[in-house]
Amino acid sequence: MRRSLTTLAAALGVIVAAIAPAHAQSRVWHARATQFENRPALAFGVAWYPEQWPEARWQTDLQLMRSAGFNTVRLAEFAWSTMEPEEGRFDFGWLDRAIDAAVRNGMMVVLGTPSAAPPAWLTQKYPDTLRVDEDGKRAGHGGRRHFSFASARYRQFATRIAAEMATRYGKNPAIVGWQIDNEIGPPSWDPESVAAWHHFLEQRYGTIDELNRRWATQYWSQHYNNFDQVPLRATGQHNPGLLLDFKHFTTATWTDYVAAQAAAIRAHADPRQFVTTNTMFWNAGFDHFALHRVVDMASWDNYIPDGRPDWVANGANHDLVRGYKQRNFWLMETQPGRVDWVPVNRALDPGQVREMAWQAVGHGADALLYWQWRPARNGQETYHGALLGADGTPVPVFGEVARTGKEFAQAAPLLADTEPAAQIAMLFSYDSRWAIDIQRHHKDFDPVRQFLSLYRPLRTRTQGIHVIAPDAELGKYRLVVAPSLHVLTPPQAERLVAYVRAGGHLVLGPRSGMKDDANALWPKRQPGPLADLLGAEVEQYYALDAPVGVQGSYGAGKANIWAEAIRPVAKDVEVLATYSDPHGWLDGKPAAVTRRVGKGRITYIGGWLDDGLLATIATQLLDGAGIRPVLADLHPDIEVGERSGAGKRLLILINHGAEPHPIALPAGASLVTGDLAGGTLSAHGVALIKLR
Ligand code: GLA
Repeated sequence: MRRSLTTLAAALGVIVAAIAPAHAQSRVWHARATQFENRPALAFGVAWYPEQWPEARWQTDLQLMRSAGFNTVRLAEFAWSTMEPEEGRFDFGWLDRAIDAAVRNGMMVVLGTPSAAPPAWLTQKYPDTLRVDEDGKRAGHGGRRHFSFASARYRQFATRIAAEMATRYGKNPAIVGWQIDNEIGPPSWDPESVAAWHHFLEQRYGTIDELNRRWATQYWSQHYNNFDQVPLRATGQHNPGLLLDFKHFTTATWTDYVAAQAAAIRAHADPRQFVTTNTMFWNAGFDHFALHRVVDMASWDNYIPDGRPDWVANGANHDLVRGYKQRNFWLMETQPGRVDWVPVNRALDPGQVREMAWQAVGHGADALLYWQWRPARNGQETYHGALLGADGTPVPVFGEVARTGKEFAQAAPLLADTEPAAQIAMLFSYDSRWAIDIQRHHKDFDPVRQFLSLYRPLRTRTQGIHVIAPDAELGKYRLVVAPSLHVLTPPQAERLVAYVRAGGHLVLGPRSGMKDDANALWPKRQPGPLADLLGAEVEQYYALDAPVGVQGSYGAGKANIWAEAIRPVAKDVEVLATYSDPHGWLDGKPAAVTRRVGKGRITYIGGWLDDGLLATIATQLLDGAGIRPVLADLHPDIEVGERSGAGKRLLILINHGAEPHPIALPAGASLVTGDLAGGTLSAHGVALIKLR
């Protein structure tokens, strides 16, 4: 049985060689996120579902879209039952006509493959394609994403419809790109997934002895005699090595799932058409850096569920998406006002939809599409924000969107071939995030929150940060900050050492350098493979239920949630801050240290420090690296983003607040468009500025 399942898994093509460079087949694109020929450099549009409406209505819709300034529609990503109403019987006539109508109205078209929404004929006849949850319950028809990501049969159906679409539309000049599936996830626990898991582990570790060694399975009698014995689990009291490898497995399986459809499309599609898949807000389901090796471009869906944007945190997610391929990306979905999937679906305030659109562009979006055009008459999302109301006429936010459309049309030629500028990088590691989440040790140690605690003061002071993977090229950044590089492999450590020796400044936050990529402790104090470079090590770490004092060159403040006592080993280590913890373990112990190494520097901050201390640290780090913001002394509600390239420098200024604020532009700067008048940026105002 095991042999046949393993063979099946291999036959599926489930690429199990752990996120390997085998996927590094994506085509090379230049700075612009697309290769439009004679088309606008900024796409602006909407998800349109013509299959939900009578054809007689389409022209009215498309005319209204034009009046909103849209030049792009995304079609078909849930229309499987309309494109293939019965097994093997395809009907693309309606889609041909919808695309033609869109093109007649000046639209570019993105086509979505419909695999997030399998039709009833498929799941009824082949129930083995249905996903099974961790408790063994098989999904039924009626929602979406109810398929198993490891099902060979499902893979065949999904790639067949993708290939059929690409055969028909792959040479169509109006089709600018392909979106594979829609917000991929969640995984499955069906028998094929279990077999694929065992095959994955065998590929990763080679022998069961090696798995036992890396997971240290002498502990609690966890020893395995063969791969078949290893349970497929994502939650519960399991070995942290198993739980981290579960994430590696989901990454490999989803990557292969997307790669299979990408290959089916590329076999027929013009290379000018991009292949992407739209991802979600801080999604932890798979390693997004790894998965993006098999697509041409990143795209994501940005929602503000509670309608109360935290602009810095939202911008960080844009930066992370840019980092997946270190290139501009598409914002494939965003809300025209509100969502419908949180307890209170508050609408954004007047002006904020435009504000969020410009923020996306400032962080590297070359496209912005709203979800959705018009609510379907029925279905799970009738309450979601849309551009039209139930009667098919514009809702109040339409005017704001149309204004944004006009501005985008004006800005597009200027923004062409520009990218977000940044002099510093922050490292985001999925392995580290997962490993901490698996064993938080303090319930409030949320790795994303902790990342943001350092991103926030740095972003507001530099006005540009590139968020990149720990394996990315670091040479061009003067400062590299890793808020918590918990999992650190020897090759990563070697690159970081080389970066420092070449003159860079590496800053590590708490919990760094503790685990290897099987989630096992390094047999060394933190920061493990970087301890020699630092010339210091973490003597002990402590979860805090009350703040502990910290003082030193950063001033006086507190550590919360987490504190590590650092022990300098080398003589040239400088103590930057110490704890004051009367009668406690941390009293007088170093909380942050730094060491000059050759032309470079390494700094280790051992506590989760309060915002005041982190603000001072950010200022000192940036001063030390000689990095200045483009515009100084701004109100905290003002966001500045710079896009540069092709000999151009542009600033996008956004007032995220409800009060006007003064802005002093540098000499020679000129307003292209927006709400800057008399040196004041209006409430929720936006301005595009050209620098000399
Ligand atoms: C996701 C999906 C869309 C839609 C929106 C609603 O982003 O991709 O199909 O359901 O949510 O917010």
